[in-house]
Amino acid sequence: MCGIVGYIGEKQAQSFLVNSLRRLEYRGYDSCGIAVADGSIEVYKDAIRVETLERVAPQLGGKVGIGHTRWATCGGPSQVNAHPHCDCTGNIAVVHNGVINNLQGLKQQLISEGHNFVSETDTEVIPHLIEKYYNGNLEKAVEAALRVVEGSYAIVVLMAGEPKLVAARKDSPLIIGIGDRENFIASDVPAILDYTNRVIYLEEGDIGVVTKDSIKIRRDGTEVDREEHKVLWSIEEAQKAGYEHFMLKEIHEQPKVIRDTLGEYTSSAEPVVDLMRLRDEGIESMLILACGTSYHAALVGKYIVEELLRIPMMVEIASEFSYYGQTLARTLAIVITQSGETADSLKAMKRLKEVGCRVVAIANVVGSSASRIADQTIYTKAGPEISVAATKSFTAQLMVLYWLAIGYSKADARRLASMLLELRQLPSKVQQVLDNEDIILQCARYLSKYENVFFIGRGINFPVALEGALKLKEVSYIHAEGYAAGELKHGPFALLGENTPVIAIVARDNTYEAMLSNIKEIKARKSPLIALAEEGDEVIGSLADSVITVPQVDAIFSPVVNAVALQLLAYYTAKERGCPIDFPRNLAKSVTVE
Ligand code: AGP
Repeated sequence: MCGIVGYIGEKQAQSFLVNSLRRLEYRGYDSCGIAVADGSIEVYKDAIRVETLERVAPQLGGKVGIGHTRWATCGGPSQVNAHPHCDCTGNIAVVHNGVINNLQGLKQQLISEGHNFVSETDTEVIPHLIEKYYNGNLEKAVEAALRVVEGSYAIVVLMAGEPKLVAARKDSPLIIGIGDRENFIASDVPAILDYTNRVIYLEEGDIGVVTKDSIKIRRDGTEVDREEHKVLWSIEEAQKAGYEHFMLKEIHEQPKVIRDTLGEYTSSAEPVVDLMRLRDEGIESMLILACGTSYHAALVGKYIVEELLRIPMMVEIASEFSYYGQTLARTLAIVITQSGETADSLKAMKRLKEVGCRVVAIANVVGSSASRIADQTIYTKAGPEISVAATKSFTAQLMVLYWLAIGYSKADARRLASMLLELRQLPSKVQQVLDNEDIILQCARYLSKYENVFFIGRGINFPVALEGALKLKEVSYIHAEGYAAGELKHGPFALLGENTPVIAIVARDNTYEAMLSNIKEIKARKSPLIALAEEGDEVIGSLADSVITVPQVDAIFSPVVNAVALQLLAYYTAKERGCPIDFPRNLAKSVTVE
């Protein structure tokens, strides 16, 4: 997810481009660039933040221009991979948000026709295609170019000598802002709200031809009308797409994130990690390590891999592993890290590499340090995660672990088929949890009065209890502990009582009966109990004080729906307590120190 912008009018374009890119940095911030035309096109771009671009970029003269702030997907963050990208002549510049799937075929064709490529990006094929099809009419050349492109895109095209911008979208958002003798193009409304609140939302397949005095929308070669809308949001509201906090917005993005991450790997014929080849190459053991929320995903990963692959999986806390971990040479080590910059995880990776381990990173930030150390990196498709509390990156990490294991599952064909069906249904199951916020809000109002809370779970949901406790701690400042339900009676029972609520994750798997007896023991000690249970569970209602129901899923997928429910519980509890949810005290989104 990147941010793209365009300006055409009577003012110098650069200040609009820089300011609007700053408003879109929540969409991606690993590199940025602008291109401005005044006869010829001048480009300035680098692997820098927008505030640096503003400081160091030369003044580029011209009243028409485009800009981009990047969230790298194809080709790491660098000056040459930053956008805008140009054709061979330098007369056509393009900014793009999306992914081109048939990149290789297009690139080989263009190279065979004499086009030179300078970057590793997929985007660079677009200006070259436009150059190939240009015959005096820019919008027609863009239409021809996009007819051969497969994938998702929102683009803005600038051409030297052309007093217009051409914009197009498919599976990526794009809007046109209407000004007075100037017009604006952007990925999202925050970019233009300083200048206008009159907006046209481009629809799938639309091509916008924008001059300073006119906006024409074409579709399949003919002109169409699009309604003008008035945006009433503030810029901050718009960046959060109307949600009050980035955390809530990111929680609600999870159905799409699950679809995108699964989509990335289910469409590829190649296994995520070729375990069989690695086994033939002498890999004898597997280890996952990480920190914080990523560590909890690793613990769920252990259950998934051991259940589906029947191979033992070790799990380690990266900060501990660096000092005592047994480094077995013939080990496949998987390091999970959203940011790819967590110092503890990077240190552990370097240690593993030193002893000849094969290291695979599961990361969300393309080009991050982890991806440079690892032998192979599997990217989650969660997009930028702004809120310090990790939410969508957790479920995206689980999707990669499910796909990694399902590829080699020992399960029989019927179970495998039902699991694949369930995976495809997960986005809608998560949507059901999101639509069930009311009961979670009530439980949050109740929970917000307490200072000490336990989360309990068993089996694959024990790590979810740890994650639920971490989320509540991070954003609401309530002291919360996640515990394996069976462990509570070995000590923490001493803390139970009216002032210590317990959140029990009750999955319909082989731990169900044991969880029910634990709940009875807890109720006997007068602790208020909130149960997280599957819809249709007739028993739990009679035991718990409140029940948050989640949709029925195969038990192996229950961590996904349960985690989303607990993310919402933490969010609303923190909201009740008036906490600074997105940027809690004493924490950082990426912990780059040991
Ligand atoms: C989770 O909400 C926290 N932000 C923190 O525990 C985080 O998961 C941990 O610092 C690991 O970060 P990483 O995934 O970027 O390596």
